[in-house]
Amino acid sequence: MPESNEFSYKKQIMSKYNEPSYVKTYDRRYNSIQSEKYETILRYLEDQVVWILDVGIGTGLFLDKVVRQWPLIGTDLSLRMLRTAKKRAKDLPNVELILADADYLPFKERIFKVVTSFTLLQNMPNPLETIKELIRVSDNLVAITVLKKKINAHSLKKILKKSGLKKFNIIEGTSEDISAICYVI
Ligand SMILES: C[S@@+](CC[C@H](N)C(=O)[O-])C[C@H]1O[C@@H](n2cnc3c(N)ncnc32)[C@H](O)[C@@H]1O
Repeated sequence: MPESNEFSYKKQIMSKYNEPSYVKTYDRRYNSIQSEKYETILRYLEDQVVWILDVGIGTGLFLDKVVRQWPLIGTDLSLRMLRTAKKRAKDLPNVELILADADYLPFKERIFKVVTSFTLLQNMPNPLETIKELIRVSDNLVAITVLKKKINAHSLKKILKKSGLKKFNIIEGTSEDISAICYVI
């Protein structure tokens, strides 16, 4: 996608995620469905420690699940979603939040042991490029979930292979998302 189209596509996506009524009702509407996805991924992270990067953290629902165990950096392109995450993280000393586009993460190569991303990819103009960016900043594991109705297991497998990953598990489960645990070697 040409750069100008990419920009207007993302701008359009952001108008949804910056909509006050959407942000206000997000937690109530999605808490339980997102929790199911977090639990699937967290099973694979038990032995992993140190900083987690969560890309597209939204209102920070994930923080309720992980923060007692691990410090975390969350990024998102929606300022409104991040403001809610900031309130949620108010008393959590090990959480940092950064406004950043998932395709251009402001971090060095291989700096995080674990990179997570929940239900972000369907928003991205080129999911392959986004996956490559998540891999770039990870030293060990990239764990993602994607909306099945937007990217099915077959397409996800193709994208992950194209990104250069040699080892990954796709978990279909019963939730609305497919999960993938990707090993960065
Ligand atoms: C469906 S929500 C999921 C939020 C969160 N991961 C959760 O589990 O509740 C998708 C999130 O992706 C963010 N997003 C969309 N496009 C993005 C981009 N280009 N870079 C970073 N975040 C983006 C949205 O602002 C929104 O917070």
